[in-house]
Amino acid sequence: MTDVLDRLAGHRLVPVVVLDEAADAAPLADALVGGGLPVAEVTFRTAAAADAIRVMADRGDVLVGAGTVVTPEQVDQAVAAGARYLVSPGTSRAVVERAQEHGVPVLPGAVTATEVQAALELGLSTVKFFPAGTSGGSKAIAALAAPFGGVRFVPTGGVGPANLDEYLALPCVAAVGGSWMVPRERVRAGDLDGVRALVADAVALAAR
Ligand code: 3PG
Repeated sequence: MTDVLDRLAGHRLVPVVVLDEAADAAPLADALVGGGLPVAEVTFRTAAAADAIRVMADRGDVLVGAGTVVTPEQVDQAVAAGARYLVSPGTSRAVVERAQEHGVPVLPGAVTATEVQAALELGLSTVKFFPAGTSGGSKAIAALAAPFGGVRFVPTGGVGPANLDEYLALPCVAAVGGSWMVPRERVRAGDLDGVRALVADAVALAAR
């Protein structure tokens, strides 16, 4: 389990993907791999999510997880499709416990001390800090890191090229997530060259 989170942390970036068609999963995976970031968080915001996860998982060259997982049933669907990690916008005991039953790492959303403590009580030490931009941004994460020294954060929501640095500079930030690298409209329009370029730009920025 830790291994998967360490691999995410190694990539520093988690592209948050919304796919309207499962048929777009393979070309998107090509763009991610081509851009140097073989990682995807495919969100359960569309009916295509489980099929898209399956397509990416079956390739074997993309570290694919499921995002916007808000019910235990979605945990089951995501894991059955091959998701290697699960991300939730908030902290739900039911979602976390189902993920733990499957032995799949889960990143619940937490932006307050109370929410971080709830995650710790569930045996987790890495949380999604969501929505990062409207929850105090990097300053809030730095403040939370003082009492919660062992907690790692994955800020997501309002993160992009302009503020990536301030998040990645924090030692407690494992990785940052965001949709700016994989705009839904570009994927839908078939502009995978454009997506690959955005991914490569993000990788270059994160490596600075
Ligand atoms: C998420 O689910 O993680 C967010 O919707 C991503 O936020 P962003 O679109 O601001 O990157």
